[in-house]
Amino acid sequence: MSKNQLLEFYEELDESDIEESSSLSDRTYQKRESKRREMDAKLFVRAQEISREFQFTYKAARFEEAWLLDSLVEIAEHKWITDVLRKVKGGKEASVYLCTPGVAVETPLLAAKIYRPRMLRNLKNDQQYRTGREDLDENGNVIVDDGALHAMQKRTAFGEEVRHQSWIAYEFTTLEILYEAGADVPRPYAMEKNAILMDYIGDMSNAAPVLNAVNLDPDEAARLYERVVRNIDLMLKHNRIHGDLSAYNILYWNGRITLIDFPQVVLPAANPASWVIFLRDVTRICQYFGAQGVQCDARRLAMNLWTSHGHKLVKDVDPRYLDAERPEDRLIWKGQK
Ligand SMILES: Nc1ncnc2c1ncn2[C@@H]1O[C@H](COP(=O)(O)OP(=O)(O)O)[C@@H](O)[C@H]1O
Ligand SMILES: [Mg+2]
Repeated sequence: MSKNQLLEFYEELDESDIEESSSLSDRTYQKRESKRREMDAKLFVRAQEISREFQFTYKAARFEEAWLLDSLVEIAEHKWITDVLRKVKGGKEASVYLCTPGVAVETPLLAAKIYRPRMLRNLKNDQQYRTGREDLDENGNVIVDDGALHAMQKRTAFGEEVRHQSWIAYEFTTLEILYEAGADVPRPYAMEKNAILMDYIGDMSNAAPVLNAVNLDPDEAARLYERVVRNIDLMLKHNRIHGDLSAYNILYWNGRITLIDFPQVVLPAANPASWVIFLRDVTRICQYFGAQGVQCDARRLAMNLWTSHGHKLVKDVDPRYLDAERPEDRLIWKGQK
């Protein structure tokens, strides 16, 4: 495969990268490009082999298909899925695909969230979330192996791989814990390498919209607000803060909500920034529901939930944890000034 084809593939994977590249310095850009070119061509040979056995309905762009097949082959081999029907959403960190279930799972439709290869991920500042989190391996178990821990500390290529895996494993294990606890999250089925398989929310023709795209009538707004609060409370009970909660990470379908997108979960007791991250989550929720006519005082709500689980309060949201690109965060910042 030629270098150009590889580049083409990654640009297809995430077109927004093209825009972004223009704002990078030449050096960073070239470094990133050369990393892309180093991507292992073996993947593609392997994909050719796999595609002899598995043919999916969804016809991905030529090189996206290689990535897709490689990511899903084990899940297909274990009879979790029989087919990939279409791409639901492509994002910076991951893409989500609609799949039909295999014999191993009884549910109408499945969603496969497939993370982009580590070196291509748009590394958001994940350090604030990782503080106090032990890293997890591909089975969701805490890593105790010295070699892996050392590699992570030294940030070797292997270490970065382990770190990336841990990020995904946090999403999966959190879904497991919360689903078990009765929270409104998709039921998780399997995690293989860079893919997570869970219940799909929506129907054959439409995926559930995110709550932010939905206007609620006052009664429903009040009901769903209570429901979200119940979920936040349940998460705290199970020692989790979502960390990126907002109406963009809640799906709405048939009058019900489903919370998604958990790789950045924060463990309250272990992370010194946990209160400010928690307050930010609650504030974003109140911004959406406030606009839907629900009376809600974010700070009071956050304080009540937080202290009812025995946690202590600290000061305002540190501006470092606010994202100037997000209108809702700019509002928080203004409110504090
Ligand atoms: N279980 C699911 N069912 C239906 N759609 C989903 C599901 N999970 C994710 N999606 C869709 O994919 C998008 C991206 O998923 P998300 O987990 O939020 O990843 P990220 O925001 O990191 O790209 C969501 O906004 C939603 O549109
Ligand atoms: Mg999301």
